Amino acid sequence: THRMIIDADTGIDDALAILYAIYAKEIQLEGITTTFGNTDVEQATDNTLRLIKLCNPGYEIPVAKGAAGPLKRDYEGPVVAVHGHNGIGDAIIPKSEQQPLAMSAAEFLVSKANENPGEITLVMVGRMTNLALALQLDPSIAGKFKKVVIMGGTVLAPGNVTPVSEANLWGDPEAAAVVFESDVPLTVVGLDVTMKTRLTYEHLHLLDRQAPAEHKQLVQFLHDSLRVYFNFYRESNYFAESCPLHDPLAVLVAINPSLVQIQTFKATIDCGNGATAGMIVTDRRARASLGRDVQFCMEVDADRAVGQMLSAWL
Ligand code: BDR
Ligand code: CA
Repeated sequence: THRMIIDADTGIDDALAILYAIYAKEIQLEGITTTFGNTDVEQATDNTLRLIKLCNPGYEIPVAKGAAGPLKRDYEGPVVAVHGHNGIGDAIIPKSEQQPLAMSAAEFLVSKANENPGEITLVMVGRMTNLALALQLDPSIAGKFKKVVIMGGTVLAPGNVTPVSEANLWGDPEAAAVVFESDVPLTVVGLDVTMKTRLTYEHLHLLDRQAPAEHKQLVQFLHDSLRVYFNFYRESNYFAESCPLHDPLAVLVAINPSLVQIQTFKATIDCGNGATAGMIVTDRRARASLGRDVQFCMEVDADRAVGQMLSAWL
């Protein structure tokens, strides 16, 4: 089993990642830390607590609330067009009585890493602010994660906020730089692979037909929440009838790297304000020298990835 912490700006695809992790038998979810991005951190925290309640996992999954904004820049506010007014596509699920921990997300990451050196896989599917803050609190934790897998950035595919930058990098480049400059064992699941890993209505209909009765509310939530996401991808002329599984793919790859082809490049982050702000600059020259080695997912077996996700709910 993979002992995992997920750090999320709990929007629609973050919710899918969390729901997968809760149901995947190979994953022991040790906690969820929340951050701003798709929605503000208060809403992301509330969404996370509600999702845990929806699954009723039978054991406690602690939630630690994290950063409300970037290290040095301003938070631009919820991305309503993509994730709806409440971050989860305006789906309504019951409120949870569970409270977030008294400690911050950064403090939680520090204590978990120190208490379990080499054991914890951290999957970050939002801005990297919480890990950056944790590394500032205690730089020694960099070597204590088993691995850190992020959904963010791109190598060859176009960006989704600017021509070269993806939302999780664009939203806090300085935090990404702290993480990229640290020694955390880093794997990047970026747009190169997430845009190719797509969920369709057929997949949802498969769940309608085959998911067991105890997952009825879960499947209903997927329908309610994904409607907004499908609409966004259709209206913005990306895809007619499907949506990318950005955040779930990071969790899937964290436990099953055979889903992707990985290449190692030296990389650094552009923290400027020009056209390449928030870009991951990969040094793919033969004698690369810029930045440090990072693993990038360049190709994906999308059918197998989607199948792996759906199987957790069947
Ligand atoms: C990333 O940005 C957020 O909108 C998604 O949840 C995902 O983490 C995709 O660029
Ligand atoms: Ca996210």
